[in-house]
Amino acid sequence: MAALTDSDAEETAQKVALITGASSGIGKSAAKTLAREGVRVALAARRKDKLRQLEDHIESEGGTALVVETDVTDEDDVQETIEEIQDSFGRLDILVNSAGMMALNRVEEADMAEFQRMIDVNLNGLMQVTQAVLPLMQRQGSGHVVNISSLAGRKSFPGASGYSASKYGVNGFSEALREEFTGEDTEFIRVTDIEPGFVETDLSEGLPPEWMETLDPADVARSVRYAVSQPPHVDVNEILLRPTQMEL
Ligand SMILES: NC(=O)c1ccc[n+]([C@@H]2O[C@H](COP(=O)([O-])OP(=O)(O)OC[C@H]3O[C@@H](n4cnc5c(N)ncnc54)[C@H](OP(=O)(O)O)[C@@H]3O)[C@@H](O)[C@H]2O)c1
Repeated sequence: MAALTDSDAEETAQKVALITGASSGIGKSAAKTLAREGVRVALAARRKDKLRQLEDHIESEGGTALVVETDVTDEDDVQETIEEIQDSFGRLDILVNSAGMMALNRVEEADMAEFQRMIDVNLNGLMQVTQAVLPLMQRQGSGHVVNISSLAGRKSFPGASGYSASKYGVNGFSEALREEFTGEDTEFIRVTDIEPGFVETDLSEGLPPEWMETLDPADVARSVRYAVSQPPHVDVNEILLRPTQMEL
């Protein structure tokens, strides 16, 4: 990938990003990548110890990080997180919604409580965090929402019904959000869906070996960086990336 130009880098620098699911996998990698670009990052997830380790790492590299312990399914938690970001940084430019879980099972064998929990985290949580950041972005007149959807949000496969339902939901939500903020009289908010195939993280542990051709979290983080470093008139709406050898 071509390096960011000086002017792109200036655009990205000094921005503030909230990254959910920052304690692991794609969210963690995205946080490191953005912090290296000079973006101040608020790290959200439930496991505070993991977030603290990431904060130390980012600060050891000269970046700025803020730990915000958050369960995305808890409305009060989410609201407190936004207030902490407002108090610490006074603005919010980028939201990366990466918090998620995956339970794969055939419908007839599925534990419905697990499927519902997946919808709660992957879809309801994402919608809740997105709604909560909008007032800040609207006040600024700009913002960028990056949703980590999935290849499973573009095509489904046996065993992925509940997970796909959550990710198709994310894609539908993203498109409506984009259209709501398009037009001359509305604020300037960009929306990007990133749709990776399998990525080697805690979430994909235990998948059948024939599915284990994987991407690295850093491959997805580069997509996030690409989307958020475009000039203001470019809105990258969708990035679908598969491991080259992946057949699904
Ligand atoms: N790995 C793949 O193959 C793949 C492919 C396509 C898309 N994705 C998507 O990428 C995103 C990140 O997944 P990953 O692969 O990086 O998995 P991961 O390493 O398991 O990370 C999942 C993250 O979500 C957080 N999380 C889960 N429930 C949460 C909740 N209720 N509130 C706040 N944070 C919560 C976890 O943090 P805590 O446990 O600390 O809360 C963790 O940081 C997910 O949306 C996933 O669907 C993954």
